[in-house]
Amino acid sequence: MQHDKVLILDFGSQYTQLIARRVRELNIYSEIHPFNKIPSNIDDYKAVILSGSPFSVRGNEALHPDLSKIRGKKPLLGVCYGAQYLAHFFGGNVAPSNTREYGRAHLSKINEHGLFFKGISNGSQVWMSHSDTIQILPENGVLLASTDAVENAAFKIKDETTYAIQFHPEVYHSKDGKKLLENFLVHIAHVTPDWTPASFVEETVDFLKKKIGDDKVVLGLSGGVDSTVAAVLLHKAIGENLYCVFVNNGLLRKNEFKSVLHQYEGMGLNVKGVDASRRFMEALSLQDDPETKRKIIGRVFIEVFDDEAHRIENVKWLAQGTIYPDVIESVSATGGPSATIKSHHNVGGLPDFMKLKIVEPLKTLFKDEVRRVGAALEIDADLLGRHPFPGPGLAIRILGDITEEKVRILQEVDAIFINGLKEANLYNKVWQAGAMLLPINSVGVMGDERTYEKCVALRAVESTDGMTADWVNLPYEFLQKTSNDIINQVKGVNRVVYDISSKPPATIEWE
Ligand code: XMP
Repeated sequence: MQHDKVLILDFGSQYTQLIARRVRELNIYSEIHPFNKIPSNIDDYKAVILSGSPFSVRGNEALHPDLSKIRGKKPLLGVCYGAQYLAHFFGGNVAPSNTREYGRAHLSKINEHGLFFKGISNGSQVWMSHSDTIQILPENGVLLASTDAVENAAFKIKDETTYAIQFHPEVYHSKDGKKLLENFLVHIAHVTPDWTPASFVEETVDFLKKKIGDDKVVLGLSGGVDSTVAAVLLHKAIGENLYCVFVNNGLLRKNEFKSVLHQYEGMGLNVKGVDASRRFMEALSLQDDPETKRKIIGRVFIEVFDDEAHRIENVKWLAQGTIYPDVIESVSATGGPSATIKSHHNVGGLPDFMKLKIVEPLKTLFKDEVRRVGAALEIDADLLGRHPFPGPGLAIRILGDITEEKVRILQEVDAIFINGLKEANLYNKVWQAGAMLLPINSVGVMGDERTYEKCVALRAVESTDGMTADWVNLPYEFLQKTSNDIINQVKGVNRVVYDISSKPPATIEWE
């Protein structure tokens, strides 16, 4: 089944991905493409949205693609820069704003005759973020709404389904933003909102069956959400021909290898657990540089995975849990050619398994959509709600060199912290949490004895994508109990601190 698609042309705004997500929340499939790479199959898209931009339409460097195949031919919505674009290049005038227009504003003088503002009343809060303003509407422009500071806050072009808004409907602070997108897409552009997690599962399974046929596929499971959902989808499509490999690098959380492996088996997956901890620990011996540790773990993982892939006779495909943010081409802030983030095309020197054909069933989904698809596949909510955990695992949370004893101590500390968060109903309020083993000893007293033992730092952050993060204000009582439990139960630790640094300038991991 083909779903209606919406094209979002990206002019480099920090909010472009949010537009795509809000549209998808309406059960409408949307794709982001750079402004200068309009898809040749433009007829396959039912409507087009122009994003905001850090650029000014007045500057020499203004981004100015040829929209002749779109404008007047398809429903078109310009947002912020997109709106200024539709004004400036079509007979209107855009000038620098007299007053700063960032943040909250309220709509007034709403034109209630059309479908665009249906169900949205005067006073509705919108979010502004621009330094230019539209002074004169373009040819055939019809004013649709204003705010106190911006006369031309929304307009349309007479006899066209071309609309433009100065504010950002995609941010939550624009209270009726989603309604407005719905009005434009469903009521004006007649897009059918039928793209749901259940339909995604059905169609992807169908697609995978056709694409893969009777071939064998190998997939590396990590215990995380993406690889798990990818595995379950593939399993539904090709059953036992999916060979999953779950590697224990000896740097997982306490008991994680056993319990996650057990969980995977319970889900009916054809999974092989490979305990390579010793191999990793030997390779990491005496290494204390963070990047070297990462490289060693990456290299050993590839060796182990390659060995396993070779054991699967006649395997043809490598499945990966790649998601949409990894493949969106970003528009660079300088307006230069856009950069693709990931590439698997440099074949020389790659291990054999990387020369397999690649299948990436989740590459059109955002993280929250992967979770919803996982729920539609009836994957355990605990598994879907797991905090992100770095590939190198506890290696980048043990500062300095790694020993089995240090891994044991950190696993114990981490388990007390994470289980405590779960027991106190705090786990789901935190985006990521973990403990760091610091390379210092400090003095303490236990009973009448002086101790000289390890210090651990606890870290809990809130975030949406890990790019920026803030520390979580955990209740003092919780921190007090956790600290007590750790010092009483974990031999070798006599001091616990809580990390109160945001990212930036700090990072989430300490290495
Ligand atoms: P930072 O420390 O850069 O972390 O603020 C941001 C997010 O990325 C994770 N992270 C990693 N994940 N390999 C991974 O697979 C790595 O080397 C790595 N380093 C950091 C980190 O856990 C957080 O979610």
